[in-house]
Amino acid sequence: MILIVGATGVLGRATARKLLNQGHAVRALVRDRARAEDLRKAGAEIVVGDLTDPPSLSRACKGMQRVFACAHSMLGRGAQSSAQVDHVGHSALVVAAREANVEHFVYTSMLGAREDHPIDFVRTKFEIEGVVRDSGMGFTILRPSAFMEHHVHRFIGQMLLDKGFVVLIGPATKPRNFVAVRDVAPFAVVALTEDGLNGRTVEIGGPDNVSNSEIAHMYAVRARKGRIFHLPQPVARAAAAAIRPLHEGVARVLDISMLDERQMRETWQPSKLLAEFPLRLTSVDAFIDERVAEWRRRRGTARRT
Ligand SMILES: NC(=O)c1ccc[n+]([C@@H]2O[C@H](COP(=O)([O-])OP(=O)(O)OC[C@H]3O[C@@H](n4cnc5c(N)ncnc54)[C@H](OP(=O)(O)O)[C@@H]3O)[C@@H](O)[C@H]2O)c1
Repeated sequence: MILIVGATGVLGRATARKLLNQGHAVRALVRDRARAEDLRKAGAEIVVGDLTDPPSLSRACKGMQRVFACAHSMLGRGAQSSAQVDHVGHSALVVAAREANVEHFVYTSMLGAREDHPIDFVRTKFEIEGVVRDSGMGFTILRPSAFMEHHVHRFIGQMLLDKGFVVLIGPATKPRNFVAVRDVAPFAVVALTEDGLNGRTVEIGGPDNVSNSEIAHMYAVRARKGRIFHLPQPVARAAAAAIRPLHEGVARVLDISMLDERQMRETWQPSKLLAEFPLRLTSVDAFIDERVAEWRRRRGTARRT
């Protein structure tokens, strides 16, 4: 049986659904049962727990052969801070899995994780990679680039479509790689059900490197509307400093959006991945086409009702 920690997130949910469709037994550790109702209906066993509650991790790991760690708390604060969830919580999850004799641990890190990264969240990813490698369990580490679902649509396109405008931080011209979760989940499924990715660290990205500004324009052209505002970097920097004592997660996101290419390179080329795995990766263009078509359908339905 496979335990998924983070099953209500975009990657966790997509992976759980694929595993269930293929007939695998899935247990989902979730904080809020109601958010996992669709997974329960699809056949998953739902257990309530939290990465900040070690006994709940031990209970969840009992009887599991494989574990998929795909939760995070980049935007968290207080008891749910990134330090508590991404560092302490994930270390506790590795211990709980090892004590439960889990055979294989799949950890979701991120592209560009490194020891001296300027962002604490990314340094934590690098550190937990080491904890997983040294755990004695079989392991696979996934290092995806930014998910299109969040970074293309939720943070840019959705606002532009629904509100008619979007606010970008600074010139937003830094090229970034984006990947669709539908292209990441199959790697998680293979790591959780086969042995070919054992001991591997796999970088997974999409075919395009584009800037946030280009993304906003791609939505605006398709929707034939949308004003694009740019928050000057000094203002964003002052906002991050003011928010930091109140909400470290929001300050972190502002910090990340102001790092230049030298500080945080976000481009990636798919040639090596495609040489090993002949895939058809989702382009940013195709992804935005789908989101805009959905928006048109929803708008049409809303007008008719
Ligand atoms: N998003 C990206 O662009 C991106 C890029 C590279 C790597 N990654 C990594 O990929 C993985 C999946 O990301 P995602 O974007 O799919 O996540 P997501 O959609 O933001 O969802 C986060 C998940 O973490 C769960 N979670 C948060 N705090 C928790 C806690 N204390 N205990 C248990 N579960 C907790 C959430 O549960 P609730 O539903 O209860 O909130 C949710 O299921 C993460 O490890 C992330 O760091 C993401």
